[in-house]
Amino acid sequence: MQIYLSRPDITEKEIEAVCEVLRSPNLSLGPKLPEFEGAFTQYIGAKRAVAVNSGTSGLFLCMLALGIGQGDEVITTPFTFIASATTIMMAGATPVFVDIEPSSLNIDAAKIESKITDRTKAVLPVEVFGNPLGMDKVCEIAYKHNLAVIEDGCEALGSVLNGKKVGTFGKMSVFAFYPNKQITTGEGGMILTDDDDLADICVSLRNQGRGKGDGWLSHERLGYNFRLCDINCALGIAQLSRIEEIKAKRSRVAKWYQEMLADDDRLIVPTEPDGCDMSWFVFVVRLAEGYTDRQRDNIIKAMRGEGIQVSNYFPPVHLQPFMAKQFGYKKGDFPITESVCERTIALPFYNNLTKDEVAIVRRKLVQALDKSASGG
Ligand SMILES: Cc1ncc(COP(=O)(O)O)c(C=O)c1O
Repeated sequence: MQIYLSRPDITEKEIEAVCEVLRSPNLSLGPKLPEFEGAFTQYIGAKRAVAVNSGTSGLFLCMLALGIGQGDEVITTPFTFIASATTIMMAGATPVFVDIEPSSLNIDAAKIESKITDRTKAVLPVEVFGNPLGMDKVCEIAYKHNLAVIEDGCEALGSVLNGKKVGTFGKMSVFAFYPNKQITTGEGGMILTDDDDLADICVSLRNQGRGKGDGWLSHERLGYNFRLCDINCALGIAQLSRIEEIKAKRSRVAKWYQEMLADDDRLIVPTEPDGCDMSWFVFVVRLAEGYTDRQRDNIIKAMRGEGIQVSNYFPPVHLQPFMAKQFGYKKGDFPITESVCERTIALPFYNNLTKDEVAIVRRKLVQALDKSASGG
């Protein structure tokens, strides 16, 4: 038996959409690119959308478009996927970490101000695991200090905080479409902004620095090939058209886990915060305080041995060896992040996970917890 950590949800609609492109003469830079971008601007309620080949490319282009580079600092969270921080470094700037708020696991807005210096150019908050809590407060502080917000919404497509959609908080916002995400294009990403100039720079940067209306061999700036081809865009259009159904399916799985795990005081089980319409990315439980990372790792090993794919989302970004070496970070620098990271277990989570499979995951988790309690 295998229960996977994540699985894409591809229907005949997606397969047909991709085949239609394959039968057409336009595999890249064809009509599906503006159609996908248009569907996104409409869904999010932003003026412009720029499709790129990954969330990482999207975040990197935001840095370049905002003129962030050598000598600049960008404030972000150490509890995230590595790309939130490495894209700051790719631009030549320095990530400055602020510890997280322990209930949402998002950057603690109250701690941002003390990290702002003359070099700070932007704040890059992340809606971790799909949770948008605190984004309004982060933006308030950033805008008070004239700092741009680059919203890393890569895990939170479809989440809403007090009626405001993820993707509308930042001056620039980014989504990602790797197959474990709410919607997938295989690989892909999307930049959203209301600023035409920033969007135009991103359009040029993703396409070898070409300018508006210039020929294929005219280049106005150093650019990249971060294009998203029409095959991916067609898949994305079909997936995005199902976003409400996808959100509902994921909420249903989250509810099953919540119902089945709520009574176990050895676990901290995530819930939808007040005021949030949460688009669940993953379902990450935490072991109660007092558990060690060794116990957590043994539980993960035991579950994997039983065919249940689980993972330790996330290790602290600042303690990744290359980050610690470059910036001199050490254990104890961001204690809340580190304490959370030691005790997380991401459980299998995807649209079509069944209630019976959730019950199996619960049973295997409880067995592993019992074994851990008996010193096993
Ligand atoms: C918070 C966050 N930022 C950025 C990314 C990068 O996206 P991609 O894998 O598409 O490059 C991810 C992807 O997992 C992510 O979770």
